[in-house]
Amino acid sequence: MKTPVRIGLIGAGARLRGVVKRLLERGNGQIVATGLYDPDPLSQEAARKNFGAEIFATEDELLASDADWIFIGSLNCHHADQAIAAMRAGKNVFCEKPLATTFEDCLRVRQVEKETGRTFSFGLVLRYSPFYQRIHTLVREGAIGRLVSFEFNETLDFNHGGYIFGNWRRDRSLAGTHILEKCCHDLDLANWITGELPVRVASFGGRDIFVESNQELAKKIGPSPDDASPAYEAWPDPHRVSPFSPGATIFDNQVAILQYTGGIRGTFHTNCSTALLERRFFLCGTEGTLRGNAYTGQIEHQRIGWNTPVSVFDTKSAGSHGGGDPVMAAGLVQTLLEGAPPLATSLDGLHACVVAFGLDASADNGQMTDLQPYWDAISRSDSTSPT
Ligand SMILES: NC(=O)c1ccc[n+]([C@@H]2O[C@H](COP(=O)([O-])OP(=O)(O)OC[C@H]3O[C@@H](n4cnc5c(N)ncnc54)[C@H](O)[C@@H]3O)[C@@H](O)[C@H]2O)c1
Repeated sequence: MKTPVRIGLIGAGARLRGVVKRLLERGNGQIVATGLYDPDPLSQEAARKNFGAEIFATEDELLASDADWIFIGSLNCHHADQAIAAMRAGKNVFCEKPLATTFEDCLRVRQVEKETGRTFSFGLVLRYSPFYQRIHTLVREGAIGRLVSFEFNETLDFNHGGYIFGNWRRDRSLAGTHILEKCCHDLDLANWITGELPVRVASFGGRDIFVESNQELAKKIGPSPDDASPAYEAWPDPHRVSPFSPGATIFDNQVAILQYTGGIRGTFHTNCSTALLERRFFLCGTEGTLRGNAYTGQIEHQRIGWNTPVSVFDTKSAGSHGGGDPVMAAGLVQTLLEGAPPLATSLDGLHACVVAFGLDASADNGQMTDLQPYWDAISRSDSTSPT
């Protein structure tokens, strides 16, 4: 019997506990959680109940333990330093998105990955989703001819928005911006589906919902008929502040335009308080059109022509992650036990971050952002030998 692969957790919050729970279930005893570091006693306790891993008082002590892999699910501002420290300690890394909150930190992670030769698996779970996989395959197979232009979006349930604005995500210095923290998935999918990178981007954004003067919106809706939770606060969070309280430094709605290297054009829209939920791609090609909403798991496809039929693919993977979580767990098992290459890499994460940085720079300074200098800097950095 082989020795099980040992994993340690940094940041054992809601997300990483879910990822690791699914992984251990799929790992069939061949993957074990041996330790964790998280400063919050509530997260420690929840993880202890789930996995029984040893709790370390510091990150360094965890890194000095015999864990083979470190899984990172802490606040976004810590991802880069923690991933770097883990790789330097000889560990392979799984890191949740986003890769980092600054471009320089993203490049540092890539450099240390090269320098240490460790395996780096990145948490872009939507790439594993059967729904997005199907869209990607249809586009690759030429179902719509050559992709010309597209729309994509992410509109969130009002309680989901209330959750974001009620926790650390409201603070740009901890989480980065909303489009980085939440929509880096969608920006990554656009890179993947188009097979290109954006060269020029622009966006407008603002905070118009989660402001003090909108407190009465919650009263207007009233408490939940299920469990009497106040409106906008139905998602559990032990450390919540009111989502309408002052101090938030991120946008709650943003619209963007993107021009890709090969000429494809896209528009993106996100809003943190909606009633009709969409995570939709609407893709227009020279010979056909595709439309899919991850919340329904359904994809419509029609060839351009007279009376062409509409095909509807039901990927049976409804939900905001499009069924990606169990598939990512299966992929992680293969990576940890058999060395299979991860489906999502740090480079994918870096590319998605750059698009978010460019969009936010534009929203901040009112100018269009030229992304070519970022792509050039990445090429220069990737061609530099590790020190
Ligand atoms: N891939 C996805 O779909 C997805 C979904 C949700 C969250 N996430 C990502 O997962 C990460 C965690 O999100 P969450 O929803 O679990 O949030 P959370 O608030 O539930 O968990 C964050 C945890 O990090 C801990 N923490 C804070 N500072 C730390 C530090 N210096 N070192 C170690 N741990 C620290 C907190 O105590 C908390 O337990 C974020 O990066 C988020 O973007 C990804």
